[in-house]
Amino acid sequence: MGQAAGVAPVDVSARRAEASLEHPLKIDLVGRAFKQDPYPTFAKMRAAGPVIPVKLPFIGSIWMTTTHAAALAAVKDSELFVLEGRHAGKSGVAGMQWWMPKSIRLLANNMLTKDEPDHRRLRKLVDKAFARRGILEMRPEVEQLADRLLDDLAGEGEVDLLARYARRLPLYVICDLLGLREEDREAFAAWSERLAGVGGTFGMLRTFAGIGGMVKLLRAEIERVRAAPRDGLISELVRAEADGDKLDENELLSMVFLLLVAGFETTTNLIAGAIVDLEQNPDQKAWLLAAPDERMERAVEELARHVSAVQGTKPRYASRDVDFFGVHIQRGELMMAFPACADADPDVFDEPERLKLDRFPNHHLAFSSGIHFCLGMQLARLETQVAIDRLYARYPALKIVGIDALNYSLRPGIRGLRSLGVRLNHRMSAAA
Ligand code: HEM
Repeated sequence: MGQAAGVAPVDVSARRAEASLEHPLKIDLVGRAFKQDPYPTFAKMRAAGPVIPVKLPFIGSIWMTTTHAAALAAVKDSELFVLEGRHAGKSGVAGMQWWMPKSIRLLANNMLTKDEPDHRRLRKLVDKAFARRGILEMRPEVEQLADRLLDDLAGEGEVDLLARYARRLPLYVICDLLGLREEDREAFAAWSERLAGVGGTFGMLRTFAGIGGMVKLLRAEIERVRAAPRDGLISELVRAEADGDKLDENELLSMVFLLLVAGFETTTNLIAGAIVDLEQNPDQKAWLLAAPDERMERAVEELARHVSAVQGTKPRYASRDVDFFGVHIQRGELMMAFPACADADPDVFDEPERLKLDRFPNHHLAFSSGIHFCLGMQLARLETQVAIDRLYARYPALKIVGIDALNYSLRPGIRGLRSLGVRLNHRMSAAA
């Protein structure tokens, strides 16, 4: 397209060379419009370069990747971009502030906040529990849980599918895996519901208060397991702690907390987002439901890309001065890889804004890459496949209430709904 008369061409490369964290670009990554439809913002971000300076609530100014290549390079180079401040001339953990409560800082003692060798030591303790083969064997249990949750909805007209299904399924699965008692599930479910509603500064402060209560609950639970071992991952970790040098008490608490939080909120958002996506794309939904057994696996990969439940990774520090994709980054500056924008990169994905359930190959970064790639990827995939399969087997004609004005959470870095009102059309589906 020709340049409009009177408009000076923009020299993106010169602008990039001058880019600095002192002059972050004005890009809204937390507003309702962005959560509802992020593609216009992604285009704007990409136009400004593969790595751009932005400002985020609580974190402040930070470099952010916009392309697939830059995001992949950032997460793969775990020596250049590090999580532990001491590896970049800083103190503490990237993104963690001195004023955050002690309970939060304590929880930062986990694999996702560690560089090697501590990261490897911690991840090795749980890697086996999340390996593909073992996870696939969990399918019948996950199906049973999904069916039970759907049984509870029978006869109801309009329900909040997020609270009653998309949140409960992954929560119950991870509680079982950890070996938490059934009666504790409800306490965790209630806690998670409180946290999920938050957004903005006051919401964030409420989150901190809620986490303190959660830590108390978990500590008590770990003590009970110590006194009377039972099945599940917590018992295994308690045994590893007793072994001596594998993990200490705070790491144990932090690990359980990480698995619990990383293990269900993200998956909740993918399941609910997938339902929205399918309802917004009836032709794609019809294609999937025509042969779900054959098509589900590939479809869930595309849904993971398109929903982008985790939009940005944890911030890292640059461990040295570096020229990275056209910008100069100084040691100690913050960097965030942004899988959501990477997965909308037209150089890698044909018509990225469109949901194409048969997309193949699909090298999305929804579960990231590098040493910190998602530990629970196989579990998240299984849960989402089962959740969609069972839901639509029973309620193929469900309808989302107010699909054009969905209630997105405004938390930075994640894309998730606060609620999902759905009319199940039970009579129709029972007759079908
Ligand atoms: C749709 C669901 C999920 C998505 C989109 C997702 C996404 C991600 C992403 C992008 C990362 C990299 C974060 C970073 O490098 O800063 C990550 C790491 C991680 N995820 Fe997930 N995740 C999901 C579900 C789960 C589940 C079910 C678990 C199971 C417990 C889990 C456990 C973890 C853990 C422990 C890490 C840190 C790994 C490490 O530091 O080595 N995630 N996830």
